[in-house]
Amino acid sequence: MKKITTKTIKEMKGREKISMLTAYDYPMAKILDEAEIDMILVGDSLGNVVLGYEDTTHVTMADMLHHTKAVSRGAKRALIVADMPFLSYHTGVYDAVKNAGALISEGCANAVKLEGGAEICDTVRAIINAGIPVMGHLGLTPQHINKLGGHGKQAKTEEAAQKLLSDAKALQDAGVFAVVLECIPDELAEKVTKELDIATIGIGAGAKCDGQVLVLYDILGLFKDFTPSFVKKYADLSATVNNAVSQYIEEVKGGVFPQ
Ligand code: KIV
Repeated sequence: MKKITTKTIKEMKGREKISMLTAYDYPMAKILDEAEIDMILVGDSLGNVVLGYEDTTHVTMADMLHHTKAVSRGAKRALIVADMPFLSYHTGVYDAVKNAGALISEGCANAVKLEGGAEICDTVRAIINAGIPVMGHLGLTPQHINKLGGHGKQAKTEEAAQKLLSDAKALQDAGVFAVVLECIPDELAEKVTKELDIATIGIGAGAKCDGQVLVLYDILGLFKDFTPSFVKKYADLSATVNNAVSQYIEEVKGGVFPQ
């Protein structure tokens, strides 16, 4: 088993598509790792799909540490990226480095992900200078939901597209090893992918990115509250669990289980 590193991810650009999924706990991380996923994201989508919040702004450092620890115990091969939650990197560079460091030293993640462009580049540089690899995140940035006002496509105007491209270049110059492009037009994602030397990881951004990421519970059909239109469901685990639980209830009530 060869551990995937940020160097591996950089080398995959243009050679092999990169696969990434979210995970939030030990058993799922183990399954993803055994299936040989390239990267596991301990996403702050944790807030929506595991903790039942309406958005990711309620996720704390304590939540992220708790779940990152569980994932890193389960996955030994995949590169583990932990999301820095809302306000964990906005109150000063000192806080940002300290919180990123905790996700590495306590959480045992291999890298952290931050949402934002040029405005966070000083913070990104400080985290990287501390020896912590950083992944960027542009386009739909869910931590800004109250400012954005919805989950729709981003960067639809020429001006917004130019800004996204220059943010991507600024992040690359700051040293990020890859960047997530969420919910942007396919053509823009393709252009960014062509113009950057680092890998782009798309979600709702078309097929031309260097890799793809999705929320695990969306593709498994486990989270039913809201499913983005770009998600492909590979299983309906909600129905499977419902059937198993209904059968168990029936057998307990009917005295069939235990025999
Ligand atoms: O938190 C998350 O799951 C994410 C992905 C949607 C990219 O940031």
